[in-house]
Amino acid sequence: MQFRIDAQDGAARAATIQTAHSVIQTPVFMPVGTVGAVKALDALDLQNHLSPQIILGNTYHLYLRPGDEIVKAMGGLHGFTRFPKSFLTDSGGFQAFSLSDNVKIEEDGITFRSHIDGSKHHFTPQKVLDIQYNLGSDIMMILDDLVALPATRERIRESIERTTRWAQRSIDYHRRKQMEGIGVDQNIFAIIQGGTDKEFRKISATELCALDFDGFAIGGLSVGEANREMYDTVEWTTPFMPTDKPRYLMGVGTPEDLVENVERGVDMFDCVMPTRNARNGTLFTSFGKVTIKAARYATDEEPIDPECGCIVCRTYSRAYLRHLFRAKELTYFRLATIHNLYYYLDLMRQMREAILEGKFAEFKRKFYRKRDNG
Ligand code: GUN
Ligand code: ZN
Repeated sequence: MQFRIDAQDGAARAATIQTAHSVIQTPVFMPVGTVGAVKALDALDLQNHLSPQIILGNTYHLYLRPGDEIVKAMGGLHGFTRFPKSFLTDSGGFQAFSLSDNVKIEEDGITFRSHIDGSKHHFTPQKVLDIQYNLGSDIMMILDDLVALPATRERIRESIERTTRWAQRSIDYHRRKQMEGIGVDQNIFAIIQGGTDKEFRKISATELCALDFDGFAIGGLSVGEANREMYDTVEWTTPFMPTDKPRYLMGVGTPEDLVENVERGVDMFDCVMPTRNARNGTLFTSFGKVTIKAARYATDEEPIDPECGCIVCRTYSRAYLRHLFRAKELTYFRLATIHNLYYYLDLMRQMREAILEGKFAEFKRKFYRKRDNG
């Protein structure tokens, strides 16, 4: 993976990442395609209407169904889904933790029951890499030890120490596999933990960033803490991370979260918010959120967002979208998802442009002014 900083404005960065499958310009938002599809869309929708350079898949889900051996036999994620650009796959720890029953965490890994059929499975740092080799993702996340907050300081300490030990096992295993010719084009990211505690974040970041990973993520946030706490934790953590490698904030967030964390030096994001909110009837616009079911849109001929360049806004009225939503018509899910993802991807493009021009502060002022006066 090649990483190059194109411009910096304050702590905000515009960079270019080159993987085996695409050139990714940052800051970047990665649409979530948990089981190998961004919900309601296919690879052609992505390519024709959104052009993301990278999307996310989940090790946990793809391992359970259809199984990583099947994905491998079908040409890996790229061949199977026909999405030709980059994939990042989460390691499965977070999903096992949030979706399955009876998760047991031990020194060698985690044991959990499938949310699909209750079957029992065991993930180790090495096992989740073996699965990700089969998936063929461009960026693989390591297995991390997560804690449900609130937690005792002792449990958080255990989590960061174990995450470091698992990270060491992961990087040793990966570099050895690469020497054997496996995962040669695949990159590996570690995940900094530590809750909202500054001392723990510092220890976790310092220990992990001393290891030879291709990039680093900040995990364990957006789990119910106040926005301010998330921003402060990111602002505190990024100075302990290398400047010459990508920084990824996992599972974040709202449009404001993206702006605030780009300002603090984050390069990559993913979140279910644009896709999930689309399906629930909440659409993002330059002037704030729109609840499409509202009666006032019944005969509204305007597009969702007159400033949006997406295919949906260039074609359909709010009235038609409202009607499809109320009728629970499947077409609604596709159109709403295209619009919301376009909004997110365009927001990132605007931020990149602002950083390249040295005008991020001005961009941020305008972003809030528009949203609050819309
Ligand atoms: N997704 C959102 N947060 C996290 C995290 O802390 N770890 C992992 N593995 N995935 C995440
Ligand atoms: Zn639109």
